[in-house]
Amino acid sequence: MCSQGKPAPTVSVLSTPEALAEAAARRFAAAAEAAIAACGRFTAVLAGGNTPRAAYECLAAPDMQVQIDWQRVHLFWGDERCVPPDHPESNYRLAWEAWLRHVPIPRANVHRIRGELPPAEAAADYEARLRRFFPGEPRPCFDWVLLGMGEDGHTASLFPGSPALREEHHWAAPATAPTPPCDRVTLTVPALNAARQVVFLVSGSRKAQTLRRVLYGPRDPETLPAQAIAPVHGEILWLVDADAAADLPRNGR
Ligand code: 6PG
Repeated sequence: MCSQGKPAPTVSVLSTPEALAEAAARRFAAAAEAAIAACGRFTAVLAGGNTPRAAYECLAAPDMQVQIDWQRVHLFWGDERCVPPDHPESNYRLAWEAWLRHVPIPRANVHRIRGELPPAEAAADYEARLRRFFPGEPRPCFDWVLLGMGEDGHTASLFPGSPALREEHHWAAPATAPTPPCDRVTLTVPALNAARQVVFLVSGSRKAQTLRRVLYGPRDPETLPAQAIAPVHGEILWLVDADAAADLPRNGR
């Protein structure tokens, strides 16, 4: 058991950023195969930022993309910057350029957040589309959610002390980031915690101290929002590279 009596987190340490990306891609493919076999479709939430780019590129590779029944895959985003979809800071553009333009996923299966709208309008629009996709559900039960973690312990666009972090009813909310582009839209904690599986992808020595605090430090999700992510009926896996894991206790892996 780690501190606070919580079960030890499931952490998989990969030797390099390249191995980390491959591992994330393989887990996406495996989760897709399992979900499609079980219920005929796979709903996945993508992360933004820089870390997932290499994993998306792996999924675009011919040997990976042939493993996936793209007609049955539905992609969503955990958060988006309020910029147009072709903007260099767009999380949608990141995934499109690195991956989605190379694979035969139907455009109708790509459910981007309309960042070209003002934050509150974009959040309401996204939530309305999510509620249409998951009709009658109390929460959006995504099969697989990929999340990153910032050096300040944020995840998606749930930043320390932010109102969005305390949203208990909406599935999507406007958010404000401390760095540009500041206007954001994010899935909320209840929406993320309804997932069947959450995978955090963390790379680099700059994240090492925060990662240890998040996994083994006192529980303080207001300060470390990544600690708020705890799937109610699902599992959580931390995929990290050796640099990010440098401060973790050896037995915690
Ligand atoms: C975003 C992401 C954000 C990201 C972390 C880590 O829109 O920026 O959703 O939560 O995952 O900030 O970003 P890096 O992968 O660039 O370190």
